[in-house]
Amino acid sequence: MKIQPNPAILDIAAYVGGESKADGAARIIKLSSNENPFGASPKALEALSRDLHLEKYPDGNCTELRKTIAKKFGLEESRIVCGAGSDEIIGMLCKAYVSLGDEVLYATHSFLMYGIFAKTCGGVPVEIPEKNLTPDLDAILASVTPKTKIVFLTNPNNPTGSYNKPAEIKKFREALRPDILLILDDAYAEYASLEPSYENGFNFAKGRDDVVVLRTFSKIFGLAGLRLGYGYCPAEVADVLNRVRGPFNVSAPAQVAGIGALGDDAFIERSINHNKEWREWTAKELASNRLKVWPSAANFLLVSFDTADTAENCRQHLKGKGILVRQMGAYKLPESLRISIGTGEEMQLACAAIKEFLG
Ligand SMILES: Cc1ncc(COP(=O)(O)O)c(C=O)c1O
Repeated sequence: MKIQPNPAILDIAAYVGGESKADGAARIIKLSSNENPFGASPKALEALSRDLHLEKYPDGNCTELRKTIAKKFGLEESRIVCGAGSDEIIGMLCKAYVSLGDEVLYATHSFLMYGIFAKTCGGVPVEIPEKNLTPDLDAILASVTPKTKIVFLTNPNNPTGSYNKPAEIKKFREALRPDILLILDDAYAEYASLEPSYENGFNFAKGRDDVVVLRTFSKIFGLAGLRLGYGYCPAEVADVLNRVRGPFNVSAPAQVAGIGALGDDAFIERSINHNKEWREWTAKELASNRLKVWPSAANFLLVSFDTADTAENCRQHLKGKGILVRQMGAYKLPESLRISIGTGEEMQLACAAIKEFLG
C-alpha cells in the first residue's frame, strides 16, 4: 500500500519559471520573466520603509488596498478579491468553479497556469489554436460544450504579445453561454494602453456579472517578489472566492507596497514609455530574413527562428554571455524565444549577441 495523491495531479507538468542563473557569467541580464527592468516602484519601497510590521497578522480583507484599487480605477470595492499574485486568483477560480470533467478553455499559446490549475481540480484543459498567434474567439466559441465552465482570455496574450479588440470581446461574451465564466487576464494591460485599438478589461466588466478581470503587481509595478494580484469579479463570484481563500492570503508587506505602488503614476508612465521605445527598437533590430518578430503590445517580444534547434542554440549562446531569455517549448512554440524588454543597454547587448549568433 502506497500513499497516493489525486491521480489528476500526477498528470501535471510542474511549472518552470524563467531562468535566473548562468554559471560563470560575470553579469546576469534577466529577460526571461517579463519583470520591470527599473526594479520596484519607488513609492512601494517608500511605503514599505515606513510601515513594516511583520509581527502582526495582515488585514485578511485587504481593506485599504481594495479601497485604493477601487478609487484608482472606478471599481466597486466589494467586487475586488486580492491574492498572493494573480496566480492565486486563477487557482481559486478553478477550485471554486471546476469539478471533475469540466472543461477550461484557452488559446493554445497562452499562460501555462490555466491548464495546471484546471487539472488540480480534475478539470479538462482544452487548448484552442490561435489565428496568426492571436486568440481565435470564433474557434473558442465553436469548441464550447455542455461541460465548459471557464474561458480564459489573456489580453494582451503571454507569450505571443497579441491582443483582442473590445468589440470582438463583447461579441464573444454575448455569444458565450451565460453560465460560462469569462476571465480576462489583464496582466500586461498597462503596457498595451498606448495601442489605439486596445481596451483593458475593467470598462467591459464594470456593468456585467459574467466577467472576471485579473490584474497583477508583478509586472509594471515591479513587485513580483512580494506576490500580489487581484480579481475584479461579479459580486457572486467575489463572495464565492472569499469563502475559498485562506484567511490571511496576502501578506502585510504586499498590501502596504501595493497601496504605495498604485500612487506611483510617474513610475508607471516612465515604464510604459520606456517599454514602447525599446520594444520597437528591439523589434526593428531583430527583424531579418532569419527571424520573425511578432507584433507585441506587452513588455516582451516573441521571436521565431527557422527551427527549434536554432532557437535553442541561440538561447544557449545568449546564456553563455549571461543573457537569459525564455525558451518556448513548454508553450508549444519550440522554434521561438520570448525576450522581455529590459533597460536600453540590456536590449543593445541582447541584440548584439543575437546578431553575433546569426553571423
Ligand atoms: C498572463 C499572466 N497571467 C498571470 C500571471 C501571474 O502573475 P502573478 O505574478 O501575479 O501571479 C502571469 C505571470 O507571468 C502572466 O503572464
